[in-house]
Amino acid sequence: MKKFKHSEITPEKVYKNRRKFLKNLGYGFSSLSLSLLPFSNHSIANNNISNLTSFKDVTTYNNYYEFGTSKSDPYRRSQNFITRPWSIKIEGEVEKTIELPIEEVLAIPSEERVLKLRCVEGWSMIIPWLGFSMSKLLNKVKIKSSAKFVEFESVYNPEEMVGQRYPILNWPYIEGLRIDEAMHPLTTVVTGLYGKPLPNQNGAPLRIFIPWKYGFKSAKAIVKIKLVKNMPNTAWKNASPREYGFYSNVNPEVDHPRWSQATERVIGESILAPRVKTLMFNGYGDEVANLYSGMDLKKYF
Ligand code: MTE
Repeated sequence: MKKFKHSEITPEKVYKNRRKFLKNLGYGFSSLSLSLLPFSNHSIANNNISNLTSFKDVTTYNNYYEFGTSKSDPYRRSQNFITRPWSIKIEGEVEKTIELPIEEVLAIPSEERVLKLRCVEGWSMIIPWLGFSMSKLLNKVKIKSSAKFVEFESVYNPEEMVGQRYPILNWPYIEGLRIDEAMHPLTTVVTGLYGKPLPNQNGAPLRIFIPWKYGFKSAKAIVKIKLVKNMPNTAWKNASPREYGFYSNVNPEVDHPRWSQATERVIGESILAPRVKTLMFNGYGDEVANLYSGMDLKKYF
């Protein structure tokens, strides 16, 4: 496995210049694999933030408890993590279980999706992800009408993942969505970021990303996707049901029992910079609010 050196970090300047260059040539962003989703610009405008978080911050300030609980642990400890061979099982309430080699999943065309991550801890980043809508993956199986939820399972590998040798969470890391949430076009299977394959610390070889939910819903290093009848018992809800609900929608009006969720710190800004207001559904309300019409979001937090 290739080691990741500081000198190799692509400064986002190089990345941005490449995009500018393509734009000036009249290629727009659709050439190479750098197409921008129609709603990405809009989403950023919605969020009132225009700067991408630096590649360095995106890849050295992480939450990935399988590698430890401090922000630099995933970067420091995941570099030798082996992500090949790898496969993803789709099972449960489906006509036929399938197991896809990672190569087949990565062959699904990825596009650039500039989307904001809002962590439940109160910070956020704007990340140029590479990925595709999860519906493309789920459509590879025939889902039975009995299926109501989707459960995502991260890899269990305590030999390589030191954090899994301790009962920090109930391993493996489990997350879940309702089927309609999983099928929403903004729900993304992430294959890379900043135009490159996904770094280990960000969830290689494959993670999910749900931009209107707190970051912990976006499970890393996925090995299993299970269609289920009942609401999954997710890792964080299991650890502390009072603090972490199943829905986990970004909601400035519902505070965490131990802190406010009304504002956030933008990673990369000076520590003296004022915190910015957190937006309902992380700014993606136009796209996703209809999924929750009629629901009491204080009760279903
Ligand atoms: N997935 C797994 N398997 N283990 C984790 O500890 N942390 C979550 C989420 N996915 C986590 C995980 C949390 S709390 C956040 S905020 C995001 O990953 C962070 O993603 P990033 O490190 O790519 O920014």
